[in-house]
Amino acid sequence: MVVWQSPEEAIDDGWRLLEAAAGDPGHPCRLMALATICVGRPAVRTLVLRRCESSTRQLHCYSDLRSAKVAQLNACADAELMVYHPQRRLQLRASAVSTIATEGSLCDDAWSGLDPRQRREYLDCASPEPAEESAARRNFCLLCFSVHTLDVLLLDAQGHRRVQGRYGESGWASRWLRP
Ligand SMILES: Cc1cc2nc3c(=O)[nH]c(=O)nc-3n(C[C@H](O)[C@H](O)[C@H](O)COP(=O)(O)O)c2cc1C
Repeated sequence: MVVWQSPEEAIDDGWRLLEAAAGDPGHPCRLMALATICVGRPAVRTLVLRRCESSTRQLHCYSDLRSAKVAQLNACADAELMVYHPQRRLQLRASAVSTIATEGSLCDDAWSGLDPRQRREYLDCASPEPAEESAARRNFCLLCFSVHTLDVLLLDAQGHRRVQGRYGESGWASRWLRP
């Protein structure tokens, strides 16, 4: 078990975990819960973590422009993403501000990386015609989360450990928390 010697170590550990998850389809933290705000109420659902860049504090997921979550993020850009690693007994919560990208190289690269079956998910299923791929591409978007707060909780029989890191003008500032 990784035992953090400092809160900074915990935040680094959290980012390493997210980077590993984004790069490995079989990783236990590849699936994240995304919470948004929907007219003052919470809404939560599962998303695949596609990309993580700790140096820029970015997490990326793919989605459909027509979905409720996109409307909710357009109305309120604040979001929280959560994963739990069952073997490590580690919970990670990332609070973030979101932007939705429909064009640009990152979005184009993401679309290029999808196979035909995945691309078809972005079609209008009500259409009786064999739709063109360009119609599906118009519905595809990249959800970009800029993380400003990371909360890492490690469950341990010797005593749980929790660290919160906040990103500010001088970088990450982290501290132990209880509970
Ligand atoms: C295992 C799993 C992975 C999913 N991955 C994604 C994803 O990467 N992107 C996405 O938009 N929806 C994904 N979904 C579907 C969403 O959880 C959700 O049901 C759907 O997008 C509609 O959500 P909304 O109405 O809140 O927008 C996934 C669902 C499951 C069960």
